[in-house]
Amino acid sequence: MRLLTGSARLAGVIGWPVSHSRSPRIHGTWLERHGIDGAYVPLPVAPENFAAVVRALAQAGFAGANVTIPHKEAAFAVCDRVDETAHRAGAVNTLVFTPQGIEGRNTDGYGFVANLRAHGVNPAAGPALILGAGGAARAIAAALQAEGAAVTLCNRTQDRAEALAAALPSAKVLPWGRRAEALGDYALVVNTTSLGMMHNPPLEMSLERAASGLAVADIVYAPLETALLAEAAQRGLKPVEGLGMLLHQAVPGFTAWFGVTPRVDEELYRIVAA
Ligand SMILES: NC(=O)c1ccc[n+]([C@@H]2O[C@H](COP(=O)([O-])OP(=O)(O)OC[C@H]3O[C@@H](n4cnc5c(N)ncnc54)[C@H](OP(=O)(O)O)[C@@H]3O)[C@@H](O)[C@H]2O)c1
Repeated sequence: MRLLTGSARLAGVIGWPVSHSRSPRIHGTWLERHGIDGAYVPLPVAPENFAAVVRALAQAGFAGANVTIPHKEAAFAVCDRVDETAHRAGAVNTLVFTPQGIEGRNTDGYGFVANLRAHGVNPAAGPALILGAGGAARAIAAALQAEGAAVTLCNRTQDRAEALAAALPSAKVLPWGRRAEALGDYALVVNTTSLGMMHNPPLEMSLERAASGLAVADIVYAPLETALLAEAAQRGLKPVEGLGMLLHQAVPGFTAWFGVTPRVDEELYRIVAA
């Protein structure tokens, strides 16, 4: 058993609710693997208490925290400094407490791109079609653009896709009803909506018009294989599952808080998927 000392490093995940979060398992596996004197804990915090809790954690000696739904925009506001990734995403999912103040980063886009690469997919291979226009879509669109990919946004509520496109350097918008017929124009399609997630309806999207070699990424990770990914596999396209994104987005936070760059591998995938 690994016992903490009085100088243990501390971090956690702030959410509301937070009991569904897999982050304690990811970071706990890495802490164990590297024999680090540290802990990573779930922190259920209601929205009205968020800013006060973040400041208190910094004052209590925490090294930092991840931030999940519904706090990512509030986290942006509480930071003293945010980096380029957080600016582009308009949201923060990783807080690092430093002697100079609270630093905010957004590692969702990094995690998405790292997971594409881990699946052998070049993020800049061609134009990308992003389904959805919420927080995750924004981080992913910005990260793909930073890699050099042309991005098209397609969302049920078109106004939100247009607003997001206007906030990005150059992004196109496709009407939601045309998502399947336009597929042939893209090298990558990404589902960033909550459709396909457990207890939600499936994403209705035929892949019949896909060009051969289309990469089909779904950032939903419960279930691990969504109907979209199953169809992609069946058609011989390149499915990219969402759990890998979650694992990769955790790497920069762990490195900043605990001073070791951890590995994303099959064993971690199995532990977190269980
Ligand atoms: N793998 C990972 O590491 C990772 C990271 C972040 C998020 N996620 C997952 O990504 C998903 C989205 O997260 P988010 O933070 O971006 O959420 P969000 O900001 O609430 O956005 C939700 C998106 O889903 C769309 N949507 C919801 N219900 C729909 C329906 N019935 N038909 C069509 N579109 C619908 C919304 O469209 P409207 O604008 O029309 O409402 C919006 O574009 C969640 O499932 C989340 O768990 C995964």
